[in-house]
Amino acid sequence: MRRAPTAILISGRGSNMASLIEAARDPGFPARIVLVLSNRPDAAGLSVARAAGIPAAVLDHGPYRGDRAAHEAAIDEALRGAGAAFVCLAGYMRRLTPLLVGRWAGRMLNIHPSLLPAFPGLHTHARALAAGVKLHGCTVHLVTETVDAGPILAQAAVPVLPGDTEETLAARVLACEHILYPAALANVAGGTGAAALQPPAAALFNPLPLRPATT
Ligand code: GAR
Repeated sequence: MRRAPTAILISGRGSNMASLIEAARDPGFPARIVLVLSNRPDAAGLSVARAAGIPAAVLDHGPYRGDRAAHEAAIDEALRGAGAAFVCLAGYMRRLTPLLVGRWAGRMLNIHPSLLPAFPGLHTHARALAAGVKLHGCTVHLVTETVDAGPILAQAAVPVLPGDTEETLAARVLACEHILYPAALANVAGGTGAAALQPPAAALFNPLPLRPATT
């Protein structure tokens, strides 16, 4: 089986990156991780990737201040140099311009901590709590020019429980992210030809038991 070479862009902790690396350790997984790239030199995920034997590099956006195109051209060069067929944004907290998005159209995935189209942008868990929603979750989608608005590939929902704080809700969603992202990548990378680039049937699942309300 040809396993699709896949690069991961991070900015920080890298727990979703770690879940993708872990899934790709299985020789039956249809993607293999060829590069981790961070725009921040202090991203904790870098050492996690290196410890797992994955090449990890930094392309600090700082020196490119005022020239996003040059920074993105450098990222693109690194991705191509690694032979990547797919790119997974995993907590990559920098807005991308049409330059990079266009070059990787249909082959760049992102994970977002909400059930899009609800709560695009930042502080999704606090906003979900403030809105009083009873279901929250995460979304894997294709990256397009509009932030957090590309075609949805897969979603996972979790309950919002009485007494939830931003932290408890974030932890419940993150546990789902770690299941959903490898599943979505496998779905996209495992397909063949143009069909693989169509949004596959959404994998809506709730892997956590629903507990009865205690208050
Ligand atoms: C994750 O919750 C991811 O969904 C979110 O950042 C976190 C990164 O954590 N991404 C976004 O908010 C992108 N809009 P991680 O570095 O441990 O994977």
